[in-house]
Amino acid sequence: MDKEKCRKIEEAAKTWTLEAADLLQKSFENTLTITYKSHIADLVTNMDKNIEKFFIDKIQRTFPDHKVLGEEGYGDDVQDKSGIIWIIDPIDGTTNFIHQQSNFAISIGIYENGLGIMGLIYDVGSKNLYFAKDGEGAFLNDFKLPRLDKTSLTEAVIGVNATWVGPNKRINHENVQEVVRKSRGTRSYGSAAIELAYVASGKLDAYMTMRLSPWDFAAGLILLNEVGGLVTNTEGQPIKLLEQNSILAAKPGLHEEILNHLTN
Ligand code: IPD
Ligand code: CA
Ligand code: CA
Repeated sequence: MDKEKCRKIEEAAKTWTLEAADLLQKSFENTLTITYKSHIADLVTNMDKNIEKFFIDKIQRTFPDHKVLGEEGYGDDVQDKSGIIWIIDPIDGTTNFIHQQSNFAISIGIYENGLGIMGLIYDVGSKNLYFAKDGEGAFLNDFKLPRLDKTSLTEAVIGVNATWVGPNKRINHENVQEVVRKSRGTRSYGSAAIELAYVASGKLDAYMTMRLSPWDFAAGLILLNEVGGLVTNTEGQPIKLLEQNSILAAKPGLHEEILNHLTN
């Protein structure tokens, strides 16, 4: 993509993200409408829907040839990776948005023919913007994030949800327990996008989870790629952009070490 085109997309994506964040902050003054999707823990609010529609409206007016894949389903029926696709999670961490009014993010990954062009993860509560552009590095606000150093499990703080530490149908929990036991500590923030941004910025050394959708990880993958973080599924296979995947994102060295435990 030529530089000027890329600059226009960047400017628009950043401006709209800040505007959307404002709408989210202001929404706390009003009563949220909360409904369930597949089950009682799968929540959606009027604001998830409004913010997705807000982005789609802006994108369609400004970049009519771009496609949108959004969690709430108001975007396009994206079946393949051709063209420019905005993969949007209007609120990642909806449960936190409802219960805590913090630790939720707007996540946008922009891809051209399947290649990551830019990623934005905006942690609305802390006003921290994690941003990356293909080949130009990753940033936390104005600060350029350094490349990630190699580390080992005994020195690592790992992002992992308690669900995977007990018996579950997706992974041998005893392998996960081994990783947890050997690590320096674990954290769980309830927003996959924030957890991926934390790995990219060195606040976490790794993040692993068993089922994410494209909008949960699209931006995070681009950020991690720019700082030398490794991302595969928990079997060590490449991530399929338009499908649900398990995710293991980690610093060099640590990725291989965790993978060895998980695939034992
Ligand atoms: C969820 C969050 C959560 C992760 C779930 C996601 P949502 O996204 O990222 O941390 O464990 O798998 O679905 O529903 O809040 O957008
Ligand atoms: Ca999400
Ligand atoms: Ca969401």
